[in-house]
Amino acid sequence: MSQQAELSWDGHQAKVPLVEGTVGEKAIDISKLRDQTGLITLDVGYGNTGSCLSAITFIDGEQGILRYRGIPIEELAEQSTFVETAYLLIYGKLPSKDGLKCFSDLLTKHELIHEDMKFHFEGFPPNAHPMAILSSMINAAGCYYPQLLAPQDTKDFDDETAFIISQVRTIAAFAYRKSRGLPFIYPKPQLKYSANFLHMMFSEPNADYDLKPEVVRALDLIFVLHADHEQNCSTSTVRMVASSKANLFASAASGVCALWGPLHGGANQAVIEMLEQIRREGDDGSRFLQAAKDKKSGRRLMGFGHRVYKNYDPRAKIIKKQCDELLAALKIDDPLLDIARQLEQTALHDSYFVERKLYPNVDFYSGIMMRALGIPVEMFTVIFAIGRMPGWIANYREVSESQGGRICRPRQIYTGTPLTHYVPVDQRGNA
Ligand code: CMC
Repeated sequence: MSQQAELSWDGHQAKVPLVEGTVGEKAIDISKLRDQTGLITLDVGYGNTGSCLSAITFIDGEQGILRYRGIPIEELAEQSTFVETAYLLIYGKLPSKDGLKCFSDLLTKHELIHEDMKFHFEGFPPNAHPMAILSSMINAAGCYYPQLLAPQDTKDFDDETAFIISQVRTIAAFAYRKSRGLPFIYPKPQLKYSANFLHMMFSEPNADYDLKPEVVRALDLIFVLHADHEQNCSTSTVRMVASSKANLFASAASGVCALWGPLHGGANQAVIEMLEQIRREGDDGSRFLQAAKDKKSGRRLMGFGHRVYKNYDPRAKIIKKQCDELLAALKIDDPLLDIARQLEQTALHDSYFVERKLYPNVDFYSGIMMRALGIPVEMFTVIFAIGRMPGWIANYREVSESQGGRICRPRQIYTGTPLTHYVPVDQRGNA
């Protein structure tokens, strides 16, 4: 007999089933509640709503645990690569040696964008934000390969997947080059994923960028750490769009748009801007922290807090350590790192942050690490988007393959005028 929860209100009673995940997380399944009772549930901001069953990523926010397909993020950060992690997320298991080679070869096959796409870059103003360019260009790329927009069989899905993961990197690098008025640098098939991205960003037609192994490894790690994070805002957006049977390009582009906001992926850019502001104002961080605690100030301590983690974000722990090591290896002394460390320590001992369980999240130190890699601040969220693409694709796939999948369509509680009537314009007055 499966477990049930009992609900009572106004003298009525109903029983609703419980579901349990593979790590023991329980939920009340209210999908038939309205049919049974006429009631819906209300959860503004979805803080307590499971929107799907998913086998991709597991998070325990209380304990600070993150696993992709069951593998702890710490093990992947230490031993895997971004391409292997992307395969794991999308196909559900680590690839064999041959499987990994096939996937890498497919990425290489798709690394060049259609030559005509270069004209699209010309249409953007010079100061266009690269996230705007990226989201538009993902949809534009699909237009050149209509066969990839057709309903999927498995082979097409493999091609589409590799196409988007590979092209997004080329588009991102081209967007940066365009924003600086620099000539486009084409990818080199012999280079691996992250090295190739750095080459397209920083080489010149007459001089190859010096690919330092610690720099390549650091960027690859950033991609691994961002590769998925269950039902965050952008992934939920991708699933929502996918549920309408929109194609993968449209769904992935919607993820980029959702990621852009400063409460989500845009936080990495916002953290650096915050640290720079603190430095400019000669603040040791305490004035900023005071303002962040005052709701009226409109400020928040960017890179702190998380909807799910009520403990140290495990990705932040890894990034912080790597950030220290990278800056030491590159002999970089970044004053923003000192400010960040000081802010973190003060916040972690401040009752406002302690009581609300606000800890550093992945974005707190990732910006400092990207600065050390020479990535300009307006590209930070783009780097996040490149990293998150496998997670979006894995979630898209889960939605498209779910038997009898329904369109995502939440309900609402209406709070507007109950009923009013149309008034012709000449009888409305001037107000
Ligand atoms: N600084 C100051 N106060 C904060 C912060 C912060 N960074 N984060 C949350 N709070 C307060 C908030 O004002 C509220 O206080 P009260 O209970 O007195 O009303 C309480 O903590 C709970 O906050 P919330 O807004 O209900 O939490 P949420 O789960 O809706 O939001 C969040 C999560 C990540 C959007 C939020 O913590 C935040 O805005 N952080 C700063 C932006 C940021 O770093 N975002 C990156 C998130 S991690 C990567 C990603 O997902 O992209």
